[in-house]
Amino acid sequence: MPVTVLVGAQWGDEGKGRVADWLARDTDVMARYAGGDNAGHTVSVGEQTFKLHLVPSGIIHPNVTCILGSGMVINPLRLVAELDMLAGQGVDISPERLHISPRAHVITPGHLELDGAEERSRGGSAIGTTRRGIGPAYRDKAARSGVLTGTMTDPDTFAAAVQAHIERVNVLLRTVYGLPEIEPSDPVDAYRAAAERLAPFLADTTALLHARLEAGQRVLCEGAQGTLLDLDHGHYPYVTSSSSTTGGALTGLGFGPHEVNRVVGVVKAYCTRVGNGPFPTELTGATGDRMREAGAEFGTTTGRPRRCGWLDAVALRYAVRVNGMTEIVLTKLDVLAGFSELKIATAYTLDGQSITALPVDTAQVERVEPVYETLPGWQEDISGIRALDDLPAATRQYVERIQALAGIPIRLISVGPERSQAILNT
Ligand code: IMP
Repeated sequence: MPVTVLVGAQWGDEGKGRVADWLARDTDVMARYAGGDNAGHTVSVGEQTFKLHLVPSGIIHPNVTCILGSGMVINPLRLVAELDMLAGQGVDISPERLHISPRAHVITPGHLELDGAEERSRGGSAIGTTRRGIGPAYRDKAARSGVLTGTMTDPDTFAAAVQAHIERVNVLLRTVYGLPEIEPSDPVDAYRAAAERLAPFLADTTALLHARLEAGQRVLCEGAQGTLLDLDHGHYPYVTSSSSTTGGALTGLGFGPHEVNRVVGVVKAYCTRVGNGPFPTELTGATGDRMREAGAEFGTTTGRPRRCGWLDAVALRYAVRVNGMTEIVLTKLDVLAGFSELKIATAYTLDGQSITALPVDTAQVERVEPVYETLPGWQEDISGIRALDDLPAATRQYVERIQALAGIPIRLISVGPERSQAILNT
């Protein structure tokens, strides 16, 4: 049972890239299972910072094989740009190390345009998508009208499929949205060139994964986004269009549940959300602004300021269950230094009733009032601390309370962006 699944326990941006980098030292194969370049994973190693959107962060480790799984939607132009960037930073990018499933779906220029057009047409109820074409690409996948990455083996067929898709989208842009059409020739040429570049990376990733499992190798499934953005388990429609929870790893890569022995949930020491949708513990005033500044809470993918708020243990308990989490990595604990007190939501009030479970109904989650427990803050800079016992008493109390509320152990705590800024809790 050598598979570890890594999931975000909140609304994404929990610091999964950094945790994947930490787990990579005990990993032979690292696989992305869902989403596309809506994700943004930042990993700092010494002087170098790697900003990844599609490629698993295992690529930075020379002995790790990386997979882009069939559950993903891939913009070939963005993938080529990311491979060039990594190669420019001295990372070995070769078809021996990186494998793309032929069953993933392609994000075309049509999907990008539709994402923007649909968001604008939603007006005040916009989802706040990353506008990377994610929703429209998954919709085409489900409607069985998408373009498979496997088509890239024949760049001319691929270019024709992309062109046909653009022409279909042009009809919608003109007739439904009253927008100008996409001029197909430029993007199609770029897509053909990208197919030529990416075709050598296509491989039967499911077979490859099983061969590695049979050889006793260790696999890490790298999640993107977070539990509360999951298409089935988040608060619809303010979700992404893929399965970002543990179940998505099984379907997005093609193996059974008996292979999984560890589900690591990444939990930020406070909460953030980009885009619209319910966020019970959101802080809209000076405290939230302070968290945003201290935590540099601006999107890796879009640069948007993230909404910030106190840790929500109601949502965390939900995430533990939905994913079958076995342990937690707590990130960005250093950001909370300097607050006189800290709050954790341990329950909600809904229409005058006290509740301890996250409501299913989005409108109800919009209405809940958090019930807070208040803990003392700490003033010390903890970014240089490497042992649990060296943390200030108030910091330890905060960590222990989160662990008790989640009901599973916190295995690692990150106290800064650098790889070494971590405290192992054994
Ligand atoms: P989409 O995935 O671009 O369709 O966006 C749907 C929702 O998910 C929006 O609220 C986005 O802000 C959010 N989202 C998508 N990817 C990420 C991510 O990697 N981190 C945080 N939020 C994300």
